[in-house]
Amino acid sequence: MSESSELKDNILVCDGLVKIYKTEDVEVLALQGLELEIARGELVAVIGKSGSGKSTLLNMIGGLEKPTTGRIYVDGHDLFAMSEASLVEYRKKTVGFVWQNSRQNLFPYLTALQNVEAPMYFMGGNRKERHEKALRLLKLTGIDHKADSYPAQMSGGEQQRVAIAVALACDPKILLADEPTGAVDSKTSNMIQDLFRKLNEELGLTIIIVTHDISLANKVSRVIMVSDGKISTEKIMKEEYRKNLDELTTDNLAEVESHEEYSIMDKAHRVQLSEDFLEMAGIDTNKVRVEVKDGKIIISK
Ligand SMILES: Nc1ncnc2c1ncn2[C@@H]1O[C@H](COP(=O)(O)OP(=O)(O)OP(=O)(O)O)[C@@H](O)[C@H]1O
Ligand SMILES: [Mg+2]
Repeated sequence: MSESSELKDNILVCDGLVKIYKTEDVEVLALQGLELEIARGELVAVIGKSGSGKSTLLNMIGGLEKPTTGRIYVDGHDLFAMSEASLVEYRKKTVGFVWQNSRQNLFPYLTALQNVEAPMYFMGGNRKERHEKALRLLKLTGIDHKADSYPAQMSGGEQQRVAIAVALACDPKILLADEPTGAVDSKTSNMIQDLFRKLNEELGLTIIIVTHDISLANKVSRVIMVSDGKISTEKIMKEEYRKNLDELTTDNLAEVESHEEYSIMDKAHRVQLSEDFLEMAGIDTNKVRVEVKDGKIIISK
């Protein structure tokens, strides 16, 4: 695939992202040349250990943080080559953000409805249109019965539903969620997961969710694993499994092999092998034998 068609076919392309945080005397390498392509309408979960760089990646895609080197293309546009004014527009209109802490998502002194209306002031339109659209979004996220409640009068899960409606207010192309089910119980987490899938299927919205929640990752067709600031492996849901997804409950989800795991090869054809694989193959040196046999590449000691 040529580079230009890569940029056109994918709503998001991250190319060699490096992020170095410098504090007084230490440097932290949060991203180490991360490569990622996301097609329009995909629902992707990002998982990885604490400190692996997940939030850093999401904040960059959201235009909130600049990479030290590397580029992000959204819809073919180089994000950080944009003018500051275009970047502000991008943050308002192209991406919607849902944070783990619902207090970070909502204004405490506005009702649920007013919270959803607030970002629409930037979009023009009249009061009646804003009101109707906000109600429609609260209905879509299943929380319209709390339209006149203030955040403090709602549970964590209810607040997250309002937060998702707020994130959708300006018709974003990409919805970004950083640990959206981190602060709710498992039943509420299930409801929120189903809501993300519904939004993805019904609106065709591209959604990227950072999560620690394995049950959420099990329901998503593509799971990206970040380790040490790079994507180490990806899991793709098996087709037969995807068809039966609605009939599966959280209990039997754990028992079936839902996804197939792939290692990622970078542009220089480098592949990172997991510790588990090396241990299983009894490889404990840094020199390995590589050969091609029956159309397969075999790595051995
Ligand atoms: N503003 C900052 N200044 C300095 N270091 C930072 C900053 N933000 C993040 N880091 C460091 O960068 C690394 C990646 O952090 P990041 O927040 O992206 O991890 P994460 O995968 O989201 O972790 P968690 O699962 O705990 O949320 C960590 O080592 C972190 O300490
Ligand atoms: Mg984080």
